[in-house]
Amino acid sequence: MTKVSVIGAGAVGATCADVISYRQLTDELVLLDIKEGFAEGKALDIYQTSSLLDFKTQITGTTGDYSKTANSDVVVITSGLPRKPGMTREELIGTNANIVKNVTENVLKHSPNAIIIVISNPMDTMTYLTLKSSGLDKHKIIGMGGILDSARFKGYLGLALNSRTADIQGTVIGGHGDTTMIPLTRLATLNGVPISQFLSDDQIKQVSADTMVGGATLTKLLGTSAWYAPGAAGALLVESIVRDQKRIMPCCVSLDGEYGQKDICMGVPVVIGKNGWEKIVDFKLNNEEQELFNKSADAVRNMNDVLATLNL
Ligand code: APR
Repeated sequence: MTKVSVIGAGAVGATCADVISYRQLTDELVLLDIKEGFAEGKALDIYQTSSLLDFKTQITGTTGDYSKTANSDVVVITSGLPRKPGMTREELIGTNANIVKNVTENVLKHSPNAIIIVISNPMDTMTYLTLKSSGLDKHKIIGMGGILDSARFKGYLGLALNSRTADIQGTVIGGHGDTTMIPLTRLATLNGVPISQFLSDDQIKQVSADTMVGGATLTKLLGTSAWYAPGAAGALLVESIVRDQKRIMPCCVSLDGEYGQKDICMGVPVVIGKNGWEKIVDFKLNNEEQELFNKSADAVRNMNDVLATLNL
């Protein structure tokens, strides 16, 4: 029997819960929000798709009752403010840091052994905060940003190449910010053939630029930040954990010398299985990529420093 809880039943949390449910990634799913009746309503609505989509996941919602989340194997934290048009993810830090810290404390009272997935923004700093404030084993805390950024990268590559996105391999590492993420264009392929065989340097640069502002583009169009791809990316991470798939995914984890960085959580390729992130794949970047990674780390570290100025 597996149990997953999703904290925050808003756009991202409910979408994540929806994908987890219809793909039957867990036996039991709990959705929790602070808005009265909201999680219960979302859970009931998702449950009512079960005869249409033919799934058996048992899904319940609760307003703030963490005892319902007890003994979760995985907890996904999506609670917090989303971006508004023109805002950066970093501008959310004050409000979301308080929410994420409080939620983590409540979660751990009832699920001390859970693996925690952090989606709330600014994600790299919220992951670092969760690690520091919980005292949990570092392998149990995973920030979801790189899977989403990589999905957007593959999406833009699919449009440029006019190909199926499932045939494209591409990964984005670094911070989960408009200026801190690093789409690894050098390594991207269309079924093993380097993309430079099909696209000009300018086209590749454009794909990279579009990927980096992928979230901001959607925020401008929608008036709030996106949810389908973030929710599905969170569910994919849950799947690799609960099914112990040991997939290599770009996730935000605590670095201890890997990629030349320490005391920071950033996006790198990791093996994801039943124990959380099990191993960092520390492969050699070229000089240009390593320089970008270092710059990205500086920006993430600056954001982490803001935590000390907040009344947490
Ligand atoms: N405990 C539980 N739920 C909370 C709390 C809390 N302390 N504080 C806020 N929430 C809930 C809100 O009531 C709301 O339903 O979190 C939910 C957030 O949902 P949305 O406002 O729809 O935001 P969403 O688009 O889902 O984004 C959530 O994910 O991608 C990131 O940047 C995004 O930080 C944002 C988060």
